[in-house]
Parts: sequence; C-alpha cells; structure tokens
Amino acid sequence: MPLPKKARIVEVGPRDGLQNEKPPVSAATKIELIGRLADCGLTAIEATAFVSPKWVPQMADAAAVMAGIERRSGVAYPVLVPNQRGLEAALAAGAGEVAVFAAASEAFSRKNINCTVKESLERFKPVLAMAKEARVKVRGYVSCVLGCPYQGAVAPVAVADVAGALLEMGCYEISLGDTIGTGTPEKTRAMIELVARRVPLKKLAGHYHDTFGMAIANIYASLQMGVSVFDASVGGLGGCPYANGASGNVASEDVVWLLQGLGIDCGVDLDRLVDTAAWISGQLGRAPGSKVAQAVLARRTT
Ligand code: HMG
Ligand code: MG
Repeated sequence: MPLPKKARIVEVGPRDGLQNEKPPVSAATKIELIGRLADCGLTAIEATAFVSPKWVPQMADAAAVMAGIERRSGVAYPVLVPNQRGLEAALAAGAGEVAVFAAASEAFSRKNINCTVKESLERFKPVLAMAKEARVKVRGYVSCVLGCPYQGAVAPVAVADVAGALLEMGCYEISLGDTIGTGTPEKTRAMIELVARRVPLKKLAGHYHDTFGMAIANIYASLQMGVSVFDASVGGLGGCPYANGASGNVASEDVVWLLQGLGIDCGVDLDRLVDTAAWISGQLGRAPGSKVAQAVLARRTT
C-alpha cells in the first residue's frame, strides 16, 4: 500500500507525558505548554485526565488546566475519562472531546482502572451515551496491544475484540497503545492486520511508547499498512503510572522528522516543536530526551 500523503499527530505530552513525571508541574506550566504546542501547528492536544487523584495525583488539576487554556479554533483538546463521573467533570470544564481507555490485558485493566475488561466496556456504555447527547466526540484507547507488564504476551485477537467493541459503542477512532513499548514492526503489522478486520484502518491510530526504541520503526510499519494517525509526546515525556518502567511516548519531534523525510505532511513546525521540547524539559530540570531535539539543538550551536 502506498504511504499516506498526510498524517495527523495527536499530541499527548500534557496528559500521557506529565501524568508520569515525578517533578511537580504547575497548572500554569501545563497551560503554557498546551499553548506552545498549539503554536507549533498541532491540531489535537490531549490536555489532561479527569481520573481519580488518588490513582494519578499528577492530573488532580484537570479542571484548572481546562479553565486556563486558550481554545484555538481548529484545535481539539481531548481529555481522558475513566467513568461517568469523569465525563461529568469534563463536560463541566467545557471539554469538546473525551477519550475512554480499555485494555487488551485483564491484568493491566485491573491495575489501571480496577475492573475487568468486560466491566470496563460496560462502564463506558453510559459514558458514550451521555457524550453523544452532549455532542462530544469520544476516542477509544486500547492498552497493552503488543504486550502487558503483568501478563506478558497479549493475543492480537484480544486487541481486535476490545477495539471492535469500542468502535461499536460509538468511538470515532481507536488508538492502539503499545503501553510498554515492547512491540517490533512485524508484530505491529500482524496486530494491525487482525484489528483491521474489526475496525477500518482509517479509524485506527498508533500510540507507541518508546521504551525499547522501536516506536519509530513501528510507526513506519503502521504507515505502510495505511494507518495515518499517531499519538506522540513532545520531548518524549512520560510513561504510564501503572506500567512500571515504561518510558515516554515516542517523541513528537521524532515523528515529525520521520514524516517530513517521507514527504508526508503533518502541518507541524519542527523548529518550534524542538523549542517546546527544550522548554518543557527545562521545566523538568533536564535536556530533551529525543534524538531529533538533541540533534536540532546541537546543529544550532555549531
Ligand atoms: P476505584 O477505586 O475502583 O473506584 O477507581 P471508586 O469509584 O471507588 O473511586 C475511588 C475514589 O476516586 C473515590 O474517592 C471516588 O470518588 C474517586 P473517595 O470516595 O475514596 O474519596 N473517583 C474520581 N475522582 C475524580 N475523577 C473521577 C473519579 N472516579 C472516582 N473520574 C477509577 C476506579 C477508574 C476511578 C481509578 O482506577 C482511576 O481513576 N484510574 C485511572 C488510572 C489512570 O489514569 N491511568 C493512566 C491513564 S491510562 C494510560 O496511560 C494508557 C494510555 O496512554 C494508552 C497506553 O499507553 O496504553 C491511554
Ligand atoms: Mg500511553
């Protein structure tokens, strides 16, 4: 299949990235980060998560973040919701798009949202119904699509079942999460092939963590199969609080470099993105982790 001409990056740094960073990050810094990311040309920026602060204290300021961001036209600011309570809070905060999150692994589902996969899908049905009534779009996540930190291997058919259930429930797009970044291109290809029997390729997104450095290779494999939406995190921030040792998402700037090299338009200004990666990494007391950010910054000083 020819490579797509355009791709969309869903920037998840403010949520997936910062939910797992140890240094405290103020709501004001998160708000500034989201504004800077919009300045880079990103059109989907996952802003925060309306989850239990007991489970993820880093997202306890979700309402303050949503109240502080400047909403630009043409930019979506989705937020994570684990249940009806989360959706109600998200709607009260003016969210125009939300995301529900399930897993292809029973063990991970219990650790992350304290219920079985089946129970989680039941829990999401009223969330989807309420969101539809409020005319709010819902994205669906499936975690552990290429491996689970607790149970190891995950069968592609389990991924396809959960992805299919989320689509049938009304999710407009299904994001496939390699939560612990153990996937490799051939495994990614085989998983997508099976999932595509239940969910059209145009409705799939790749959400690859870069723990083993394979995320860019997995994105390339996904592009070759016709997937054109990828989640990424500026500066490669973060990980997952319920997947010990998982490193951040693939860095947004690495994805932009890949796409530009392939002649695929994603509408993102790489230089501004590198500046943003350097800025937020500085706020966390370190240099940006991604190779592309480091290389672009080094080139500027020579
Ligand atoms: P629970 O303990 O089973 O449920 O948690 P509960 O109903 O007993 O609630 C526990 C407490 O949280 C109660 O407070 C509730 O009121 C409160 P208490 O009475 O003890 O004071 N509560 C809430 N507070 C704020 N907002 C809410 C909410 N709901 C309940 N929405 C629950 C179940 C689902 C709430 C919990 O497990 C949870 O919040 N989990 C979220 C975990 C999480 O955010 N993980 C990271 C995101 S997923 C991810 O990163 C993967 C992804 O990136 C894709 C990938 O990489 O694979 C998406
Ligand atoms: Mg993730």
